[in-house]
Amino acid sequence: MWWSLSALVLCFYRVTAETAGFIKSPLSQMKLAKDSAELHCEVIGNPIPEVQWWFVEGEQPDEMFTQLFDGARMDRVRINATYIRHATSTIYFSNLMLNDSGTYECRASNDPDRNDLKKTPKIKWIRSQANIIVFEQPFILTDPQEVINVTSAVLSCNLTDPPSPIKGHHWTLNGKMIEGTQMDSTAKYTEYNLEKIDSHSGGEYACVFLSTPVVQKVIEVKTAPRVVASKHSENGNEKDKGVLVCMSHSYPPVAEWKWYFLGENTGKTAIISETEKYDISSTPNKTILYINDLNINQDMGNYLCYGENEMGNASDSIHLRVRSRLAALWPFLGIVAEVIVLVTIIFIYEKRRKPDDINDGGKSNADTNHKDKNVRQRNSN
Ligand SMILES: *[C@@H]1O[C@H](CO)[C@@H](O)[C@H](O)[C@H]1NC(C)=O
Ligand SMILES: *[C@@H]1O[C@H](CO)[C@@H](O)[C@H](O)[C@H]1NC(C)=O
Ligand SMILES: *[C@@H]1O[C@H](CO)[C@@H](O)[C@H](O)[C@H]1NC(C)=O
Ligand SMILES: *[C@@H]1O[C@H](CO)[C@@H](O)[C@H](O)[C@H]1NC(C)=O
Ligand SMILES: *[C@@H]1O[C@H](CO)[C@@H](O)[C@H](O)[C@H]1NC(C)=O
Ligand SMILES: *[C@@H]1O[C@H](CO)[C@@H](O)[C@H](O)[C@H]1NC(C)=O
Repeated sequence: MWWSLSALVLCFYRVTAETAGFIKSPLSQMKLAKDSAELHCEVIGNPIPEVQWWFVEGEQPDEMFTQLFDGARMDRVRINATYIRHATSTIYFSNLMLNDSGTYECRASNDPDRNDLKKTPKIKWIRSQANIIVFEQPFILTDPQEVINVTSAVLSCNLTDPPSPIKGHHWTLNGKMIEGTQMDSTAKYTEYNLEKIDSHSGGEYACVFLSTPVVQKVIEVKTAPRVVASKHSENGNEKDKGVLVCMSHSYPPVAEWKWYFLGENTGKTAIISETEKYDISSTPNKTILYINDLNINQDMGNYLCYGENEMGNASDSIHLRVRSRLAALWPFLGIVAEVIVLVTIIFIYEKRRKPDDINDGGKSNADTNHKDKNVRQRNSN
């Protein structure tokens, strides 16, 4: 509906192709202090109109206008405009303050005299306004404030002074709604029961109250990492590159990964990355150890991956076996040998039985008869 309308408007302006016209106007919104907001505006016209953003203070007729530019209000304002076929402009506000509340105006004009101070433009700027209302962050008392080092917990939120009546509430984990927690209730208090906390249940839990704007508060549930090797036994060929992988999914994620080598004859030695022999590539959830130029005598043994975060540490081990290049060839050579032997046997067999093929049945009968005779003869002896 909206699109067809704007398409219609677009067509209309293609035809007349003169004055500026809005195809998207900024939308009013309610926000909380410290949130961010954006207003978007799109204008068509020929030539492509210029778009400006203004802040409007006071009431008519005593309004005061202040133009906003990229970097205004102590760098909290960003403006991104594009002028391709038509004009688009978005103004972004970060870290909103209470006094950012007010009326904002998107202005556009394509009159060649629009910015000339001496001449009055024949066509005035067209304007479209929207309000941003910034509310104080309401106070949500959480209990506990964070969850550490326990195996179960009841999270609770108690909201005082909501910005508007509450229509419901729910809980989220890392920004995703937790199924079954939605409630159509005007209550300002909510609980969530975490019956069993393991290394997978950590994260940012938040209670969300559906007021306007929506308010929420995060309770962090922290656990120690649980480090798991992706394979506990790895094989590598001599001279190849060995690749060992360990993972951990915990909250907070692993802050530091380390690898150790427990050789068959050596003790536990820490592995240093970016050497000729080793490279370690780590992300918070995963670490990969690359061992260059595998050596049967030196590199065989157990490798320990170790991860720690502020809550604790964990490790897992991987056994690495290094095979000689020749050993890797054996299965192949075996197959080749097998094929050769088979082919030879078939060849010899075929060759020997070919000439007798025609009177095969007769001959074998004669053979058995002959044998029988022999046996009988021997018996009689
Ligand atoms: C500016 O807006 C254009 C079009 O909307 C977009 O492609 C581009 O990524 C934006 N640039 C920045 C820095 O946000
Ligand atoms: C808004 O308030 C902040 C402090 O809270 C102040 O630094 C800033 O100058 C104010 N901005 C305006 C436009 O009044
Ligand atoms: C919590 O951690 C402390 C050390 O930080 C430890 O002494 C205590 O046993 C832990 N409690 C539980 C329930 O794991
Ligand atoms: C929420 O907080 C208010 C004021 O701090 C207190 O009176 C009320 O008892 C609390 N509600 C719950 C369910 O704890
Ligand atoms: C790390 O794991 C956590 C929990 O599984 C996940 O939310 C996050 O997106 C992962 N991060 C990366 C970089 O893969
Ligand atoms: C790992 O955590 C244990 C306690 O769980 C601690 O005794 C040990 O020192 C830690 N290891 C390292 C290397 O920090």
